[in-house]
Amino acid sequence: MTYTPKILAFAGSTRSDSFNKKLIKIAVQGARGTGAEVTELDLRDLPLPLYDGDLEASEGLPANARKLKDLLLSHQGLLIASPEYNSSISAVLKNAIDWASRPAPGEAILGCFVGKVAALMSASPSILGGLRGLATLRSLLSNIQVTVLPHQVTIAKADVAFNSDGSLIDPTQQSAVTQLGADLAHIVAKLNIS
Ligand SMILES: Cc1cc2nc3c(=O)[nH]c(=O)nc-3n(C[C@H](O)[C@H](O)[C@H](O)COP(=O)(O)O)c2cc1C
Repeated sequence: MTYTPKILAFAGSTRSDSFNKKLIKIAVQGARGTGAEVTELDLRDLPLPLYDGDLEASEGLPANARKLKDLLLSHQGLLIASPEYNSSISAVLKNAIDWASRPAPGEAILGCFVGKVAALMSASPSILGGLRGLATLRSLLSNIQVTVLPHQVTIAKADVAFNSDGSLIDPTQQSAVTQLGADLAHIVAKLNIS
């Protein structure tokens, strides 16, 4: 039987002209080029309240948290492009992970994260390209039992790094991001994750 890896791709930014959303588009091409099935998610389409234990206790998981969990459950690989905010990850990304980490009654704890494989990228106008935020994200994901690929891509000076069509001006960077998407698909396929 042929195994088709399923990959969920999203940026930790809701901004329309987000550099990290552009990175996702490039990496998605790389993953699709291997035959993987990729779902692109814009977190703007799944608005969530800030995590609040009282809200969870009184109303359960918000509908969009349920949708996010179901998306995570139905994919084996995660392509994430994470903006760096004050040396860490964005509130939007952290809040999405926090809600998704909450089990509904009868669900396994962290069930939508355990056993997944993730590839990480970041883009920032700064010279570090969001590198410090990725360290935080790598640690966080590892702690919720997501296997994170050892290699990652950061794009510095992102404000001048992209062509108007969304590709990266530097062909080496373009190819590194495409390859990261392809690598994630290959590894998910090799691991044959259910
Ligand atoms: C609250 C805030 C904090 C930020 N902190 C950092 C930072 O620590 N390091 C950095 O490289 N860029 C920082 N930036 C700049 C972001 O990298 C920049 O806004 C980037 O465009 C965000 O990603 P996006 O284009 O995908 O939306 C910060 C931006 C905001 C709004």
